[in-house]
Amino acid sequence: MFTAARVGLFTESVIREMTRLNNLHNGINLAQGFPDFDPPAELIEAAVRALNDGYHQYAITWGSPRLRQVVAEKFAWYNGVEVDPERHITVTCGATEAMMATLLAVVDPGDEVVIFEPFYENYGPDALLSGAVPRYVQLHLDDPGFAFDPAELRDAFSPKTKAIILNTPHNPTGKVFTRGELELIADLCRTFDALAVTDEVYEHILYDGIGHTSIAAQPGMAERTVTINSLSKTYSVTGWRVGWAIARDPAVTVGIRRAHDFLTVGAAAPLQEAGVTALRFPPAYYRGLAAMYEEKRNLMLRILGKAGFRAFTPRGAYYIMTDFSGLSGDDDVAFAHRLVTDVGVATVPGSSFYHAPALGRPYVRFAFPKREETLTRVAERLHRVREVVGG
Ligand SMILES: Cc1ncc(COP(=O)(O)O)c(C=O)c1O
Repeated sequence: MFTAARVGLFTESVIREMTRLNNLHNGINLAQGFPDFDPPAELIEAAVRALNDGYHQYAITWGSPRLRQVVAEKFAWYNGVEVDPERHITVTCGATEAMMATLLAVVDPGDEVVIFEPFYENYGPDALLSGAVPRYVQLHLDDPGFAFDPAELRDAFSPKTKAIILNTPHNPTGKVFTRGELELIADLCRTFDALAVTDEVYEHILYDGIGHTSIAAQPGMAERTVTINSLSKTYSVTGWRVGWAIARDPAVTVGIRRAHDFLTVGAAAPLQEAGVTALRFPPAYYRGLAAMYEEKRNLMLRILGKAGFRAFTPRGAYYIMTDFSGLSGDDDVAFAHRLVTDVGVATVPGSSFYHAPALGRPYVRFAFPKREETLTRVAERLHRVREVVGG
């Protein structure tokens, strides 16, 4: 046996496993969250330009100066926090690496990290790989705002708490944390001298007129927050693998840069350069993005309702958690397997988003960053779901 204990602590990503099954059964992949349409043409042109302009060698390990400059400018106008690109920003291989590098930089084995659940499935292995002891706090799916119990959150904090991982807008629920909730979290971070690590990759995908609030902009929080973001979702380029971590505590940034340097050295140099064009898009681009996804959300909610799923309406991001217990008595894994093999639609079983599988048993998650024609094909397939899985 050559494998180390640390990789035995978690299993392969269920999302990628569903994607593989989907390809085997010629299904429609609503498991993994990536668009089936192209990014803006200006971005593709910018990437081609960067390749022609000689960006073929390592960028500075913590990121192209031009990209860090525009990340700082955008963080000031959109999130309301001034940062120094030289001292506070590290460019990484996507938000995925930013989260891993951050936890490696701040967590000592045995430190506790508070995580809301259901959670984006990477946070579990991220916490385990960094040696953190996760403390979970429930988001209530039956509440329209996916609220948590403030007392439960308060109880999860202790002198052992090193950080809380936040994600707003939230995958998988679509929860958008309110200013009041963020103030409460900020208060606990200050009281327990804990760091907020916030994943805001869906910060522009918001519905129903709701705005985005960054915890880094709350009083006293800039110095105790790491804000993680990437090009992936906002610019429809999940395969480019360019993200960043912003930490205004210079020591935290030094730690993140050290971890990052030895994990990956750096993200693809030409795509970092193309990212400069992306981050300079005008506000109208982001309004268009949100409007496009709001239409898709509404269409998908209608499709799911018609097919007999109980859908939990997301306020942001591009996923819908659903309760399928009105359709089938299967558990979530069995149901998701039947959905892909017999109906031809791949989803993610709810248990992937919980530390205790039983908590996710009645749920599957649908991702909807897809063309209208794809969603129409999904509707046709799901039309048969009752007869296929109900029998
Ligand atoms: C909440 C969240 N964070 C991070 C990521 C991954 O981001 P990246 O592609 O920048 O690594 C995803 C992708 O699904 C996500 O849902």
